[in-house]
Amino acid sequence: MSTVLPPIPLSGDVSIPRLGFGVFRAGAATRSAVLTALQVGYRHIDTARVYKNEADVGEAIRRSGVPRGELFVTTKLFELHPFLQQRDVVAHCEALGIAVSAYSPLTKGKRLADPALGAIAREIGHTPAQVLIRWCLQRGWPTMPKSVTPERIAENFGALDIALSDDVMGRLTALEDGTRCAWDPSTVV
Ligand SMILES: NC(=O)c1ccc[n+]([C@@H]2O[C@H](COP(=O)([O-])OP(=O)(O)OC[C@H]3O[C@@H](n4cnc5c(N)ncnc54)[C@H](OP(=O)(O)O)[C@@H]3O)[C@@H](O)[C@H]2O)c1
Repeated sequence: MSTVLPPIPLSGDVSIPRLGFGVFRAGAATRSAVLTALQVGYRHIDTARVYKNEADVGEAIRRSGVPRGELFVTTKLFELHPFLQQRDVVAHCEALGIAVSAYSPLTKGKRLADPALGAIAREIGHTPAQVLIRWCLQRGWPTMPKSVTPERIAENFGALDIALSDDVMGRLTALEDGTRCAWDPSTVV
C-alpha cells in the first residue's frame, strides 16, 4: 500500500494531519522538543491546559517560523494502541462521523518491549515505536507520540514512510489484551 496519508478532513474548512506530536509530561523540555518536532516536519501538536505547557508550545511555534495556518493544535482524544482498541467506542464514533484520535500510541513505553511486537519489528526492519505508530495511522486514526528525545522524535516521524502489510496489521490487531496506560473513562461519573 502507499505510505502517503493525506490529512483527514473535518467539518468546517479544516483537516487534521495524521501524525501529531504529544507533549504530556514533557515538562521543561517541552519548548525544545516541540521546536525539534516542527523542524523534523510534524505539523500537529497535542497539548492541554492541564499539562501546564501551552505557553512553551506557543513559544516553540513562534520561534520555529512555521506559519500558524500550517499547524493543527489539538486536545480531547481517545486511547488507542494494539493492546487496547476500544472497538465499541471507535465503532460508535465512526458511525456518527466523529474523527477518532489515538493518544498514548506507544503505551507510554510500557509495552514497547513486548516480544510479539519486537518480533514483528525485527521482521520488517523497523522499530517497535514506528510499528505502533504506523498501526494507528493505517487504521485511519491521527496519533501523537510523545518524546523529548531528538532521535526518537525523528524516529517516530519515520512511521510516515513505512507501510505495514495486511498480515502484519492483522497480527498487531490480535495483540489486544486490555492494557490501559491512562485513566479509565468508564469509571468517570
Ligand atoms: N487528551 C488526553 O486526555 C491525553 C491523554 C494522554 C495522552 N494524550 C496525548 O497523547 C500524547 C502521547 O501519549 P503519552 O505521552 O501518554 O505516551 P506515548 O506517546 O505512548 O509514550 C511516550 C513515552 O514513550 C517514550 N518514547 C517515545 N518515542 C520512543 C521511541 N521511539 N522509542 C522508545 N521510547 C519512546 C517517551 O520517552 P521520551 O520522551 O523520554 O523520549 C515516553 O516515555 C501525549 O503526550 C498527549 O499529547 C492526551
